[in-house]
Amino acid sequence: MYCFSMKIYGCQMNVYDADRLRTALVSRGWLETPEEEADIVIFVTCSIRDKAEQKVWSEIGRLNSAEGRTPPAIAVAGCMAQRTGTQLMKRYSSVCLVCGPRSLGKLPGELENVMRTGQRVSLLDENPVSLDDLAVAPLLRANPWKAFITIANGCDNFCTYCIVPYVRGRFISREPVVIFREVEELVSSGVREITLIGQNVNTYGRDFDNGYVFSSLLDDVASMDGVERVRFSTSHPKDLTKDVVDVMSRRPSVCPGINLPIQSGSDQILKLMNRGYTVEKFASIVEMIRSALPDGSLTSDLIVGFPGETSADFERSVEAVERFRFDMIHTAAYSPREGTSAAGIEGQISGPEKRRRLGVVNSIQTVISQEINEALVGRTFSVLADGTAPRGDSMLQGRTPSDKVVIFPGDISMLGSFFRVRITGTKKWCLSGEVVKADGKASLGVKCDGLDQV
Ligand code: SAH
Ligand code: SF4
Ligand code: F3S
Repeated sequence: MYCFSMKIYGCQMNVYDADRLRTALVSRGWLETPEEEADIVIFVTCSIRDKAEQKVWSEIGRLNSAEGRTPPAIAVAGCMAQRTGTQLMKRYSSVCLVCGPRSLGKLPGELENVMRTGQRVSLLDENPVSLDDLAVAPLLRANPWKAFITIANGCDNFCTYCIVPYVRGRFISREPVVIFREVEELVSSGVREITLIGQNVNTYGRDFDNGYVFSSLLDDVASMDGVERVRFSTSHPKDLTKDVVDVMSRRPSVCPGINLPIQSGSDQILKLMNRGYTVEKFASIVEMIRSALPDGSLTSDLIVGFPGETSADFERSVEAVERFRFDMIHTAAYSPREGTSAAGIEGQISGPEKRRRLGVVNSIQTVISQEINEALVGRTFSVLADGTAPRGDSMLQGRTPSDKVVIFPGDISMLGSFFRVRITGTKKWCLSGEVVKADGKASLGVKCDGLDQV
């Protein structure tokens, strides 16, 4: 029996992969322990920006330089392993295994092999259509009540700034029956909220030849026994179609929140990014969503300082932020990724200027988010108590159907249950509330608001 500890970086796909890996290792008799007691530390890594990789380099450095202790064995899995695995092994002899995201299925067996024999193993598949996936549901999750399910691996969009298509490979949809089986297993293990994930969920099924598309899957999952709440992420604006929004408004268990990354408000930059839409096309999709889901939420992603982004282009992004009034935006300063086409474009923007632009959009968005949140004070939502709040005794946190974080008084016996929570105020990034009553069955989405005024 071996003891392992895991460190997880990056997106929801990594959480899903790490939960499955934990499940597979524990079923082989391994034990998860704190880092100090672990025989091996497993990093599940991200490459999306340079900073994501730097964190892992420095953590591995720390493990290697800890005084008075031989460094534990280290395994590096995920996107950064795929990109830099060979360098990692060269630099640190304690890195005994590297594994790209398309070889995850081999990882549990190879980890055992490495621990038994002391051999070093590299699982970096150069073939972008190969996929050796872990055939395990994520039963031992970081969060017992919520689970992610990857519905498609990889990405074919090749946005010019993005490393994902290179490290995760081609877009491959998982078979619906495999997804349904996983949903059943998760529901019977106590999961109350499922998030279907993919880099572009809207092209789900494009590689099938039977017309089964994302809205078919969403509808089918939402109508399965025991499925109380379904979310999904991420939607690509060029591929989000009305049939998806129709399922959302028809099925009460599908939460009315959409993440629709705009990335830039300038048509010129969107073109250079290879995003496949203009700002006006984006606006028409926003209109379609908001007229069908008037109480839903819309979040977005935005990159500032893409190479060649002039002050005028940046102004267009500011205008877009003001025009679309998203509930929240994940903003990022452009980070050149070696091997992507944008990294070689002339007109790279300086670090200080990127940070300045980031500050400008963030401060505008903070005001917008606060205004939107303040308008929710006094309303009541169905909230799944899914964790203790990071600060404050006897405080819990959960999310509204539209995916807003609410902090409310409660004790740990309430975790994993739904409550009707009245919003009493706003904090900088979340809402505060109080429980009105227990909500045995989940939620009728935000549509239940009127009914909930008890
Ligand atoms: N598939 C999703 C997003 C995946 S990456 C989509 O198409 O929107 C998550 C976010 O990271 C992106 O939306 C983008 O805003 C950001 N991102 C990706 N590559 C980046 C880079 N090189 N520099 C800065 N931000 C980046
Ligand atoms: Fe990256 Fe674009 Fe694919 Fe999203 S859609 S993962 S941003 S290439
Ligand atoms: Fe990062 Fe890979 Fe996700 S690069 S954002 S962990 S797909």
